[in-house]
Parts: sequence; C-alpha cells; structure tokens
Amino acid sequence: MSDPVSLGSVSGLRPAANNPATSPELTVALQAAVNQKHANVISILKNAINELGNHYEITFANSMGAEDMVLTDIIMREQLAIEIFSLDTGRLPVETYDLIAATEQTYNTKLKVFFPQAEAVETYVRTNGINAFYESIDLRKACCFMRKVEPLQRALKGKKAWVTGMRAEQSTTRVDLPFRQFDEGNQLEKFNPLSDWSEQEVWAYIRMHHVPYNKLHDQFYPSIGCAPCTRAIAMGEDVRAGRWWWEDPLNKECGLHVKK
Ligand code: ADX
Ligand code: SF4
Repeated sequence: MSDPVSLGSVSGLRPAANNPATSPELTVALQAAVNQKHANVISILKNAINELGNHYEITFANSMGAEDMVLTDIIMREQLAIEIFSLDTGRLPVETYDLIAATEQTYNTKLKVFFPQAEAVETYVRTNGINAFYESIDLRKACCFMRKVEPLQRALKGKKAWVTGMRAEQSTTRVDLPFRQFDEGNQLEKFNPLSDWSEQEVWAYIRMHHVPYNKLHDQFYPSIGCAPCTRAIAMGEDVRAGRWWWEDPLNKECGLHVKK
C-alpha cells in the first residue's frame, strides 16, 4: 500500500463549522422519528433483560462512536441492567480517550475497559513491526484479532447476550442486519437495536439529548476505530470509507462481527 495518511499522521484537521452530517436541522418530523425509534430501542432492551436476566447478563460493546454514545445515553438514563465495556486496542485516537473520560464524568460512572494481552502485542510487534497492519490483509487481521477479537472473547465470557451499535446502512456487509440474531461465533444472542436508524437520526438524538461525542466526528470522521486505520472521508463517500481505506469494501470487517 502506498503512503498511508491516517488520523495519526494528519496535522491540522479541517474546520468543523456547521458540518451538516453532525448538525442536522432538528425538524418536527425528524424529532418525531427519533422519538419513535428511541422508544423502540428501550423496548428491545427491556424485553431482552426480561427474557435473559436483570443481573448484567447482557453486555454492551461500546466503541465510543456516535451510535454507541446514543446507546450509552439510553442505558444510563433508563438505568438498564446492562453492563458497558470498551476494547482499548492501545492504538485509539487521543480524542477517543478524551471521550471516555468525558463519558465517565457525564454519567458519573467508570467504564469497564479490556486491553489486549501484553505478550501477544510484544510478540507481534517484535516479529512484524509496529505498523505491520499496512503490509498485508493477513497482518491487518492478525492485529485486529490480537487487539480486538481476543479481548472481545474475554468480555463476552459468561454473558447471555451482547448489544452493538451497528446500523444496516453503514456498509455493504451490514445491509440485512436484524435487531436480534444468534452469534454463532461467540455462541450468544446479539442485539443491534439501532439497526434501522439513519445517520441523521443518530445525530438528531445526540443533539436533542446533549450527549457527549467524539470531536473527530465534526472533522469528517463518521466512523472511528484505531488511529492508524482511520481517516477522514470526502463529501459523498461511504460512512466507513475512512476505515482500512486501502482494503476492498466488500470484506472490511475487523473480526468482531463475523457473518456465518
Ligand atoms: S468495527 O469494524 O470496528 O467492528 P464499527 O466501528 O462500525 O466496526 O463498530 C461496530 C460495533 O462494534 C460498535 O457499535 C460496537 O458495538 C462494537 N465495537 C467496535 N469497536 C469497539 C471497541 N473498541 N470497543 C467496544 N466495542 C466495539
Ligand atoms: Fe490493529 Fe488497525 Fe485493527 Fe486497530 S484497526 S487493531 S491498529 S489493524
């Protein structure tokens, strides 16, 4: 791959003033749609708790992205018995760490963070190099496995279900995303309560409820992962175009969400 220009190496982000993607006009129709979908999310999550247990048997994977901040806000405001965890890959943008701190302050809580196994990271870096994920798909997937998938497996251990902030609209790999599915790979239920939300509805919720969010979203980063593998998108580009931008969009998943 030639000359990666990622979030980690960009200096001087573009100005954010009036980014229409993150500041939609809050029309009556948009607010009504959001309120209706908001009620549906609460109902999906409460039904899941009633069915699967109200002692934190359900856990929510919070990447701190815009969608996940909507779910965090709903879970905290409704005081739902759902655990919240984040995977700290060790390569997140500084803005994501700032948001973790702001979230803990806003909701007066401490987030449960899972880190990769130190020995696995040491071996990978010594063998392949610190930025080896740019060199091949295999090395990229191995990095995602070690920094995200293995910690996810630990986070899901003993749980009956997990919740994600994925939306069907986000990518070609997610078009038929259901509200609920059985996760064969991890052998537990998986809920995607924002599956039918549009990007505009996500941002309307954030604005209506004053939810904290990652400042990079205002700088044309609709989807944020690790710093070296995320960059800003151009107008009209797919919302996940800035993730692993050097790879084929048909296969661009990190391994957290494997289709069976
Ligand atoms: S992914 O390819 O990185 O998985 P995306 O950023 O679109 O894609 O995230 C989709 C969902 O996966 C998020 O809504 C969240 O539930 C989960 N997820 C992704 N990254 C993390 C993370 N670092 N910590 C916790 N959950 C995550
Ligand atoms: Fe590694 Fe990039 Fe995957 Fe992060 S997104 S775990 S840095 S390959």
